[in-house]
Amino acid sequence: MRVLGIETSCDDTGVALYDSGQGLLAHRLFSQTELHLDYGGVVPELAARDHIRKALPLIRAVMQEAKTRPDQINGIAYTTGPGLAGALLVGAALGRSLALAWNVPCVGIHHMEGHLLSPMLEPDPPAFPFTALLVSGGHTLLADVQALGRYTILGESVDDAVGEAFDKTAKLLGLGYPGGPAIAQAALDGDPKRFQFPRPKTGRLKTQGAHPGLDFSFSGLKTAVVTAVQNQPLTSRLVADIAASFEEAAVDVLAIKCEWALEQTGAKQLVVAGGVSANRKLRERLIHLSEKLGVRVFFPRPEFSTDNGAMIAYAGYLRLAAGQREPLSFGARARWPIEEIGAAKN
Ligand code: KG4
Ligand code: ZN
Repeated sequence: MRVLGIETSCDDTGVALYDSGQGLLAHRLFSQTELHLDYGGVVPELAARDHIRKALPLIRAVMQEAKTRPDQINGIAYTTGPGLAGALLVGAALGRSLALAWNVPCVGIHHMEGHLLSPMLEPDPPAFPFTALLVSGGHTLLADVQALGRYTILGESVDDAVGEAFDKTAKLLGLGYPGGPAIAQAALDGDPKRFQFPRPKTGRLKTQGAHPGLDFSFSGLKTAVVTAVQNQPLTSRLVADIAASFEEAAVDVLAIKCEWALEQTGAKQLVVAGGVSANRKLRERLIHLSEKLGVRVFFPRPEFSTDNGAMIAYAGYLRLAAGQREPLSFGARARWPIEEIGAAKN
């Protein structure tokens, strides 16, 4: 089965062709970073309009690269949500229209399920069941993953997502957007011990070593950075030290919560995905943790940590292969809890 995947939930237009026999055949990504640079964040209306411009040329390019004609495509997958409503509708309208024109089935994919399954595109992939840490610009969550579509949230952020904390901290430090890679780069020259930023919700409770649960909070970390930069010039040394100390605190929190989640589920596999999973410090720390616990850890390749079409094509393949079909009507869901997706239904 050969599936075309289309991702347009935010500021990246991602397109890919996945083949169940041959694996990933081709993928293309157009990042709108430059378009939004002057605004310090993504402008939803500009994002939607740019997806319209880029999606069809990218689809043509992947089909050409994979030497695939329309009659060789067996299904189409597009991101239904969560994300920016206008941006999502571009992918939904395009995916649905192509499916109608080519007379093939079509399926809408949950963006975070795409991330969750992205390590399965790598050699030696994880197998269900596993514990997953999903860390992106909009989400921070730990989930117990029993099977495709059977996800139980173990903990999630009660305020900012971790990627959002990276982005806001980068903005405060004048490092631009997106903040994650900029912070990681600046942190290379910094002292991670100079600032003791808070690690919210990680203190062991006094009673019998019980811990405060698997939810996250990152807004306090951002406030601590605001305090650290107050009333002093932003020298490159200060920026590097704050970036390093911030990254250290964020990685600490994520690693501690992963350890507690693995203790709770008893899982022998940890899957880590979403934009922040590209972070090298986080990868190193979680590899170290997994060795300590005797657990295997799985990441997508760094370019598939952030938004891409390959993960949507792959998730679409799994759902279409499980028999999921959609009616001709379509929609977009700006908000969509991952526990509500459900297994494939036809
Ligand atoms: O998954 P993604 O591309 O889009 C969403 O679904 O949100 O994640 C984007 C987020 C941004 O907040 C970005 O700053 C963060 O991932 N990010 C990183 C790194 N690369 C991207 N955060 C930390 N370190 C990185 N290397
Ligand atoms: Zn994403």
